[in-house]
Amino acid sequence: MARILVTGGAGYIGSHCSRMLLERGDDVVVLDDLSTGHAESVACELVVGDIRDEVVVRKTLARGFDGVIHFAAKALVGESVSSPALYADVNVRGTELLARCAAGTGVRAFVFSSSCSIYGTPKTTPVDEDAPKAPESPYGESKWAAEQVLAGADVPSACLRYFNAAGAHPDGSLGESHDPETHLIPLALDAVMGRRPPLKLFGRDYPTPDGTCVRDYIHVQDLARAHLRALDMLLGGHPGGAWNLGTGRGTSVLELIHAVERVTGRAVPYEDAPRRTGDPAAVWARVDRAEHDLGWRAQHTAIDAVVEDAWRWAQARRF
Ligand SMILES: NC(=O)c1ccc[n+]([C@@H]2O[C@H](COP(=O)([O-])OP(=O)(O)OC[C@H]3O[C@@H](n4cnc5c(N)ncnc54)[C@H](O)[C@@H]3O)[C@@H](O)[C@H]2O)c1
Repeated sequence: MARILVTGGAGYIGSHCSRMLLERGDDVVVLDDLSTGHAESVACELVVGDIRDEVVVRKTLARGFDGVIHFAAKALVGESVSSPALYADVNVRGTELLARCAAGTGVRAFVFSSSCSIYGTPKTTPVDEDAPKAPESPYGESKWAAEQVLAGADVPSACLRYFNAAGAHPDGSLGESHDPETHLIPLALDAVMGRRPPLKLFGRDYPTPDGTCVRDYIHVQDLARAHLRALDMLLGGHPGGAWNLGTGRGTSVLELIHAVERVTGRAVPYEDAPRRTGDPAAVWARVDRAEHDLGWRAQHTAIDAVVEDAWRWAQARRF
C-alpha cells in the first residue's frame, strides 16, 4: 500500500484515477480547490485548497506521501488565449511549487498530466514523443513549460501526454462534468438529449477521409490505469520520462457522430460551422513507448464502447 496525494482528484480524470488507487488499497488524499471539480466525485479525504498556496501544500505534504499524481490545472484552450497569465500561474508556477515542496518530504514519484497540445499541429501522424514541441495556445505552452520544470526537479517524474480523454466509469457513477463543456462526446450526447443546442461541426474541408478533424479518443479508465503503471515504475526506482497516452487510432468527428447515433439510437442534431483557428486536421498517438516502458496499452479501443460508457453517465449523472 502506498500513500498518494492526488491533486485535481475531484476532476474528471483525477476522480477515475483516485477511485482506481483506492480500489487496489492505496491510501489516497485529494487536494483540489473545486474550481472545476466536484466534491461528490471524491471517495476519500478531500483537502480543499489551491496548489498555488504554499502553506496548504506544505502542510498537506508534511503528512507524508510516497507519490504525487498531479492533475490540477486550468484546461480550457480558449480560456488560455484570453487569460494566459492565469494558465502560466496555475499550470506552470503551481506545478513548480508542488514539485519543490514535494522534494525532500519522502515523495519518490511525481506523475504529471501533460497533453498532446504540446505538439501543436504535428507534421506527421501518428505523433511520437520526440516530435517537435510547437504548442499553439497558452494552455499547450503551459503544459510544455511544466514538463521542463519537472525535468529539472529533485523528484523523479512521469509526464503523461494524453490525447483526447473520453468515456466514463463503466458503472455510471463517475464521468465528465465540465461547465463550460468543450469536449465532443459530452456535447454530442447533450445535443441528443436536447440539453444543448445542435452540435457545431467545425469544418468539413480538412484533408482527411471524410473532411472532418481526426482525433485519438482515449478512455478515461485506460488513462487511470496508465497512471498507476507510471507511479509504480517510479516508486520502483525508474528515473522517469514522458509518454504518449492514446489508442494509436484516429476517429473523425463524423465517425464519432455516427457512433453516438448507433449507441443512443437517436439522430445527433448538428450544424456546419467554419474551421476553428489552430485545429489540426488529424492527430493521433504513436504509443509504442508506453507499451514498451509502462507495459500499458489501451483496452477500450472500440469507439462505440467509449461512447456507451459516456452515454450511461450522461443519462444518470448526479453532478
Ligand atoms: N480532458 C482531456 O482531454 C485532457 C487532455 C490532456 C490533458 N489533460 C489534463 O488532465 C488534467 C485533468 O483534466 P480534466 O479533464 O480531468 O479536468 P478537470 O477540470 O475536470 O479537473 C481538474 C481539477 O483540478 C482542480 N483544480 C484546478 N485548478 C486548481 C488549483 N489551482 N488548485 C487545486 N485544484 C485545482 C479542479 O477543481 C478540478 O477538479 C489537467 O491537467 C488537464 O490539463 C486533460
